[in-house]
Amino acid sequence: MSGSLPDAADLIDLKRYPIATPGSEAGRNLVTRCRATIDRDGILILDDFATARAVAAMVDEARTVEDQAWFCVHRHTVYQTDGKEAAPEGAPRTRLVTSDKGNVAMDRIPRDGPLRTLFDWRPLHRFLAAVLGLPELHPYDDPLAGLMINVNRTGEQLGWHFDNAEFAVTLMLQPPRAGGAFRYLPNVRTGDVAEDAAVLAVLDGDETGLIDLAPPAGTLVVFRGRDSLHCVAPVTGPRSRLVGVLSYAREPGQRMDVASQMLFHGRVA
Ligand SMILES: [Fe+2]
Repeated sequence: MSGSLPDAADLIDLKRYPIATPGSEAGRNLVTRCRATIDRDGILILDDFATARAVAAMVDEARTVEDQAWFCVHRHTVYQTDGKEAAPEGAPRTRLVTSDKGNVAMDRIPRDGPLRTLFDWRPLHRFLAAVLGLPELHPYDDPLAGLMINVNRTGEQLGWHFDNAEFAVTLMLQPPRAGGAFRYLPNVRTGDVAEDAAVLAVLDGDETGLIDLAPPAGTLVVFRGRDSLHCVAPVTGPRSRLVGVLSYAREPGQRMDVASQMLFHGRVA
């Protein structure tokens, strides 16, 4: 990066990922490939998306604000409910798992820093919309949840769940030294008995069909998390897992509700 403020175009390996020139042949080919991948697999993994220099700057930034994360321990079902609804004993809707993590809110992340610059970059919004087959995407209009840094310290994890949002965009900043794999069972949400059976098998420890992902720093992941059961295994090494979470929506003005802000950030903004 040149100068003190980052230029978004310097944060990404644009030779490999020509997202700033979507009308070029290379740009069109990239979108076609990426769209086919996520439609088939439910996930798109772009290795070395951020340059090594950008990642180094983002990790410096993340470590500076890591202590400002709000840590919470949350017990939930795979559907992110409290498990109290009427359902047969042992049904997936009654089975609780644990998520313990920290969230650094967007208003704690420097506005002129590299991660926020990437989050706000319109060519990235247009690229992601094209890959997801959407007319456009807008950053969440939420001072806490638009951009976050997820922190999992030693022993912390994300329990098995389906996302509420239809897709998630994350950038690996600092992988843990050990543990902390992202695990998923793709495209399992069918809404019928096959889904219940698959969820129960995973909750009971069956690893059939599970895919483990331990992306290196700089990997951008686009994931249809509403359809695929997923978790982050406990971090076992001494180093925190730090992930940038970039939240976008089809419509402008998307916000967290007050209860979610309190749960994930410990305050309302
Ligand atoms: Fe998730």
